Amino acid sequence: MTSTAPIGVFDSGLGGISVVREIRHNMPNERVLYFGDSANAPYGTKSPEQVRDLSNTIVERFVKQGVKAVVIACNTATSAAANELRDRYDIPIIGMEPALKVACDRGEGHRQRVIVAATPLTLREKKFAVLMDRFKADHTIFPEPCPGLVEIVEHGLLDDHDTVMRTLHEYFDQYDLSTIDSVVLGCTHFVFYRDYFRELLPSSAAIIDGNAGTVRHLGVVLESLGKLAPDHADGGIELANSDTCERIARLAQSLLDR
Ligand code: DGL
Repeated sequence: MTSTAPIGVFDSGLGGISVVREIRHNMPNERVLYFGDSANAPYGTKSPEQVRDLSNTIVERFVKQGVKAVVIACNTATSAAANELRDRYDIPIIGMEPALKVACDRGEGHRQRVIVAATPLTLREKKFAVLMDRFKADHTIFPEPCPGLVEIVEHGLLDDHDTVMRTLHEYFDQYDLSTIDSVVLGCTHFVFYRDYFRELLPSSAAIIDGNAGTVRHLGVVLESLGKLAPDHADGGIELANSDTCERIARLAQSLLDR
């Protein structure tokens, strides 16, 4: 069994496009409807209730469009809204969380020193506390809220090397980075900063994100339901955004093509 119905992917704004790129690369036959909520970004400094309401409105729209699954391409919305969305809707809802397990497993039994860069809300929510509880006895974990990195992407300043590096230094100069084993990019906007993090960090420090794991999980779920797109299907990406100005449309497309 297969399904040519689209997959709905959403984020508070443009960060989830990093997940769409991964879907396009690994599941090229799938059709993706992407919705970025840039008019309401950032989510990471909002209350959980606000993020739940906004997420619910987006998923309702996807359901009307006939999606076969939803990917919450946003760690923040996953923390605040995934459980409620799963209770409410009858389609698979795939969420994301900072890939802390991947970072800790790299140590193969040795204590790891890991920075988790994410939004303030992701790091405040219970889901992250539960994740920390699994690893904090055996590893040293530094949660670091970096809301400024979301703003830079949304304002189209990602290519402004000085602004980006200055912002990264503001967040990370407090650490002795030579003692850090890995940095987890726990926000989909941050995945676009990989090269900048590489410039900031010593080569011994790994940079880890959850995009590949999320897309693998999506594939497993769709396969188990017999809902993968058939091999001959033409995949494609449609980008939509709550901020309908031309600047955001161009920015979204350029991030997809990046
Ligand atoms: N991209 C989002 C995440 O993965 C959230 C960014 C924001 O709106 O604060 O957490």
